[in-house]
Amino acid sequence: MPNAYVSGTGFYVPPRVVTNETLIKEYGIDTSDDWIVQRTGIKERRFADEGVGSSDLAVKAAEDAIARAGIAKTDLDMIVFATLSSDHCFPGNGVYLQRKLGLCDGPNAKFVPALDVRNQCSGFLYGLSTATAMVKSGGAKHVLVVGSEVHSAALDLTTRGRTVASLFGDGAGAVVVSATDEDRGIRSWHLGADGRYADVLAQKIWDISQRPFIPRDANGVGQVQPEMMFANMDGKLVFKNAVERMMTVLMEALVANGITGNDIDLFCFHQANLRINQYLQQHLGIPDEKVVHNIQRYGNTTAATIPILLAEAERSGKLKRGMKVAMIAFGSGFTWGCIIADW
Ligand code: UT7
Repeated sequence: MPNAYVSGTGFYVPPRVVTNETLIKEYGIDTSDDWIVQRTGIKERRFADEGVGSSDLAVKAAEDAIARAGIAKTDLDMIVFATLSSDHCFPGNGVYLQRKLGLCDGPNAKFVPALDVRNQCSGFLYGLSTATAMVKSGGAKHVLVVGSEVHSAALDLTTRGRTVASLFGDGAGAVVVSATDEDRGIRSWHLGADGRYADVLAQKIWDISQRPFIPRDANGVGQVQPEMMFANMDGKLVFKNAVERMMTVLMEALVANGITGNDIDLFCFHQANLRINQYLQQHLGIPDEKVVHNIQRYGNTTAATIPILLAEAERSGKLKRGMKVAMIAFGSGFTWGCIIADW
């Protein structure tokens, strides 16, 4: 059975920087830099321009990862796309990414399977686990895994929506997972979900059990009320569960690998709130140099946080071949996961 390792990382964030001050001055939100920084650690995030979808951000991150993996696009055997902000209701973004990468063009067209993952902040780790299983089983040699989000289009950028709107940003990260006979790569994956909390962090938009599924006005035009249109969150409950589940799943992963936290060279925590990660870090006694963050600059980019962290850490030299890496995520669903890899 081959091992599965990350052969290339890539990322892309849109150029427009939206600071906490921009939220106040441009959007008129009643908030403050102090409130957002103290509660979350976020100083700024990126917003994509109108006309740019999450599949567009994904193309750039994917091309970066493919180039760094040293393969051609046509070497890919599969695409796994994790997002909660897909371009449309359906089809999923996987096929759009395939088309935009040029995989459907010309005599060398390669109609690889494209799988969409809807696990929000844990989506990348669910996708990476799936890719690993595909590669280890011999079903694929190179799998592209992408996490990409355009949140800015679907945030309630008013004072009414300030709690959620101040948290999220746009961006994309990607990895190529490849087969190898070397003794390295993804050692184990640990995933979980608790559907009792499905409504605690959700963006519903419609209710398919209703007729019509979106209420219509007298002219038959769909009317979506703000409480359905935008994400709703019980922040404190999410925070509490995030800490507990991330801690537990990390422990489960360490035990399964017969290692302790001291054996991990780099921790990549999902970037939902700097305070969540600092709490975990302090509780586990992890030194600062073993942790990477980017929430201060990008906010919460949901499925993209961990692949962006990996790509940035490789480029800055913080993540090097031979290191033992722990990736840990938690999010809406609730869903969570941890992956241990020898880089
Ligand atoms: O990716 C996974 C998903 N998300 C998370 O993991 C998020 C987890 N939760 C959190 O990070 C925190 O719960 C938040 C940062 C979202 C909120 O922090 P909090 O300490 O739980 O604040 P709160 O929602 O209880 O609000 C406290 C106060 C309220 O005012 P009152 O009612 O006490 O007068 C809010 O109206 O802060 C107010 N508030 C704000 N004030 C200024 C809420 N949002 C803002 C804001 N600016 N942006």
